[in-house]
Amino acid sequence: DSDRINIAIDGPAGAGKSTVARMVAGQLGYVYIDTGAMYRAVTLSAQRLSITAEQEQRLSDMLHSLRIDLEPGVSGQSIFVNGEDVTQLIRSREVTRQVSYFAASAVVRKVLSGMQRNMAGRKGVVMDGRDIGTHVLPDAELKIFLTASVKERALRRFKELPADQSVPLEQLEKEIAERDALDEQREISPLVRAKDAIELDSSHMTIEEVVGSIVKLSRTKLAEAK
Ligand code: CDP
Ligand code: CDP
Repeated sequence: DSDRINIAIDGPAGAGKSTVARMVAGQLGYVYIDTGAMYRAVTLSAQRLSITAEQEQRLSDMLHSLRIDLEPGVSGQSIFVNGEDVTQLIRSREVTRQVSYFAASAVVRKVLSGMQRNMAGRKGVVMDGRDIGTHVLPDAELKIFLTASVKERALRRFKELPADQSVPLEQLEKEIAERDALDEQREISPLVRAKDAIELDSSHMTIEEVVGSIVKLSRTKLAEAK
């Protein structure tokens, strides 16, 4: 089907991947898939059962009893675990702090990347994550590696915090840098730019500028695919 392509958007936390991917999908009439939400859902489920990232067998058993559903919505994607809406719960600081440890687990990556590949089978998907262009969809027609400086990314997250949950900016910067390091240094599918990915530094770009350039690039790829 040359009418649609798959678009992979990878990069570190706060680069703007989910915001931009959702808007690009909206403009193209594509489906947006937030793979980070899936790693977060697994982390939440494991925490509830007191399973640690090192307990491979327990994790494996848990994964085989989890049904993860993603549903597109107006203000983003909703995520369900065995029918329970966990969209808000997976954004907690507890999950954020632990998710990169669970994302380093071989069994977790194997199960989730299998699901993600299935979701993209019919094309017309904008998928964001860390290893989409390198491992999940190595044949994606368009690959974007979206970055921004740690300072700018921490500031973006700082601005998103509700007033009653304020955390010092320096603390956010430290936590983002730690998560970057874990994601970049893990053995399996680390965060790295795919050779054929186009790098966009969004530090000094507006959301509209980033979306505009990705939509333009995808129109070019679509024309090529015809
Ligand atoms: O939204 P934010 O950038 O904070 O993170 P996320 O996209 O929700 O991803 C949370 C974590 O899941 C990342 O820090 C990675 O450890 C992991 N992840 C991954 O390993 N591979 C993916 N394809 C997506 C997320
Ligand atoms: O998914 P990822 O962690 O890469 O980033 P995000 O969750 O989309 O968060 C990015 C935040 O930065 C959002 O609050 C956006 O409004 C803001 N932002 C952006 O995404 N892109 C810009 N060029 C400027 C700001």
